Amino acid sequence: MREAVRLASRVAETDANVLVTGESGAGKDALALFIHRQSRRARQSFVKIDCAALPNELLEAELFGYERGAFTGATQAKPGRLEAAHRGTLVLDEIAHLSTDAQAKLLRVIERREFERLGGRRTVRVDARLVALTNVDLDDAVRRRAFRPDLFFRLNVVRIHVPPLRERHEDVAQLARQFSKAYAVKHGRAARQLSRAALALLESYEWPGNVRELAHVLERAVIVCEDERIEVSDLPEAVRTAAALQSRRARRPTLAELEAEYIAETLAAMRGNKSAAARALGISRKNLYEKIARYGLEV
Ligand SMILES: Nc1ncnc2c1ncn2[C@@H]1O[C@H](COP(=O)(O)OP(=O)(O)OP(=O)(O)O)[C@@H](O)[C@H]1O
Ligand SMILES: [Mg+2]
Repeated sequence: MREAVRLASRVAETDANVLVTGESGAGKDALALFIHRQSRRARQSFVKIDCAALPNELLEAELFGYERGAFTGATQAKPGRLEAAHRGTLVLDEIAHLSTDAQAKLLRVIERREFERLGGRRTVRVDARLVALTNVDLDDAVRRRAFRPDLFFRLNVVRIHVPPLRERHEDVAQLARQFSKAYAVKHGRAARQLSRAALALLESYEWPGNVRELAHVLERAVIVCEDERIEVSDLPEAVRTAAALQSRRARRPTLAELEAEYIAETLAAMRGNKSAAARALGISRKNLYEKIARYGLEV
């Protein structure tokens, strides 16, 4: 994550387009905003468009804007998000969903820094830094010919990967504190610390929903918490059980534990017959008795 932030700060100083990759909830939007705020465009607009949320034609109308009469219902001209982002930053969320048509148009915008509104003749010049976000493998989309390689290269000038939260457990504590403070303010509650056990649980959980999921868990905890600290009991059942399972699995058994378990299993299989068990285990009866005593396996 530190590497991602370092890259983001570096690229913020320039006007280069950026491709931000990462799982859902990992913080791609947050990183795009960080880039904008660190850039000389910080005082200009930060505009977002979600390429997955709108059907194709509506998306183009939103992105490029339209002139009056461009299509049925276009009773008035309307500038698009590209124009709104002039001198600022335009975030293209879920870029992989962009239609082939829109991909071609966007490529032209990048190459010539100009475009026309839908149904318009007037050329609009635009200066916007593009930050494209994706949670799917865009290289793969290019290979499958679902995404134009030329547009991909234009967007992929600098690529920043936001790692999933499970790969940066060391960030959990700080994020959790930050969310706990913020949600305490939002819900008019006193700010609360996390108990050691609660924090340990949060740190061992895998966070399939990443930072977004952590934020929700802390919001809930702030609301239900009745004590001085946020305790394990304030965390949702799902987090508690999953974390318990994971930590049990993550712990490697010692050789002695494995041996004890295997001997117990063999004894059970031989219905307690120690001669048969010793034979199966390839050790002497005397040795087996010693191990049974050492591990407290008396059957
Ligand atoms: N480093 C961070 N500090 C504080 N809040 C964060 C951080 N990273 C992410 N968040 C918060 O977590 C939530 C999810 O982050 P964000 O929307 O950036 O994820 P995303 O990668 O864009 O996910 P999606 O692909 O689902 O849109 C947001 O509420 C965001 O504010
Ligand atoms: Mg997002």
